[in-house]
Amino acid sequence: MKARVEKVFRHLDPRPDVLLLANATDPHLDQTFFYLFDVPAGLFEGSVAIAHPDGELDVLSSPLESESAYQAAKHDPHVKVHVVGRGDETEGLVKKLVGSAADIGLHYRELTHDWFVRLSKMLPSVTWSDASNAVRRARVTKDAEEIVRLRRAAEIGSAVGREIPPLLQEGVTELGLAAEMEYRMSRHGASGRSFATIVAFGAHGAEPHYSPGETRLASGDSIVCDFGAYYRRYASDITRSFHFGRRDEELKKIHDTVEAAQAAALSVIRPGVPGKEVHLAAQRVIDASPWKGRLNHGVGHSIGLSVHDGWGYNTTVDDPLEEGMAITVEPGIYLPGRGGVRIEDDVVVTKTGYEFLSTAPRAYLEVPA
Ligand code: GLY
Ligand code: MN
Repeated sequence: MKARVEKVFRHLDPRPDVLLLANATDPHLDQTFFYLFDVPAGLFEGSVAIAHPDGELDVLSSPLESESAYQAAKHDPHVKVHVVGRGDETEGLVKKLVGSAADIGLHYRELTHDWFVRLSKMLPSVTWSDASNAVRRARVTKDAEEIVRLRRAAEIGSAVGREIPPLLQEGVTELGLAAEMEYRMSRHGASGRSFATIVAFGAHGAEPHYSPGETRLASGDSIVCDFGAYYRRYASDITRSFHFGRRDEELKKIHDTVEAAQAAALSVIRPGVPGKEVHLAAQRVIDASPWKGRLNHGVGHSIGLSVHDGWGYNTTVDDPLEEGMAITVEPGIYLPGRGGVRIEDDVVVTKTGYEFLSTAPRAYLEVPA
């Protein structure tokens, strides 16, 4: 997409002669490849994209997804697809397409070392430069089409979020509930999950990145469900916390505090506000409660072609929010050995504030056992 290629080049300083992106094997695919080449389907392992400062894009695709590649290029006059079958063909064509380029930008954060060695042998006299920051800056503010997809991904996640309460049945396992949620995301139109679904019962909720197991739901458990969908390559990321059975006054108060922390973080979101202010607004609410210090992660992160795409919002981010950024807002309180509560929504920064992308109800819900 010409506008996106030009956007990345605007952020490149100094500007290389070309920008080269190379995919290894799944999951080592550079999502920037798909940022510039808007192809909704296909894996594109081993594929290369060469972006030029005038907005033109050469894409080397394998025959495995040549049909998708040709279809996508048909709608974009600035993309030229080259189908290559073997590694040596790729190398010959890369050399030809970079031509006399003396300085080539690479996405260091996503390029595998194997690719770097191959490219260095292929093009021994080239100077490499790191395009990672430019790529990140370009990708972190979304265009209209990206927001449409993020909203749809969040709608799919929200639909599943609304369906969770009746699935909370005595004896269901964490893995079983996670599988059911992922199945439902697909039924609602997701191309897949945007990360491994977290379902944590009881004390497991105290670990933010818990991996579900065979623990069965029992009366009195708190429940943390953190899940997201991919829609046309764009991710959502939502967390909802529930309570099963017998009321727990402390967990109810914790939930109220997390809701208040999320509301405080949301209330500061608008262009120009340093990212850390979003975190600090939530942290202040939690630190003024009996659960001081129990927020043990950044309060959010950018979201886009991957679930953690760009910045994480913690106390160190001075960069200001900009219109079009899509971020999560996800405060939590964690009590080791007891459980946790996290509430997470996806929002997009607007001219004057923010808009929700995710919509599932976030109020405290006690599901009768
Ligand atoms: N959804 C998991 C996380 O944001 O870390
Ligand atoms: Mn998240």
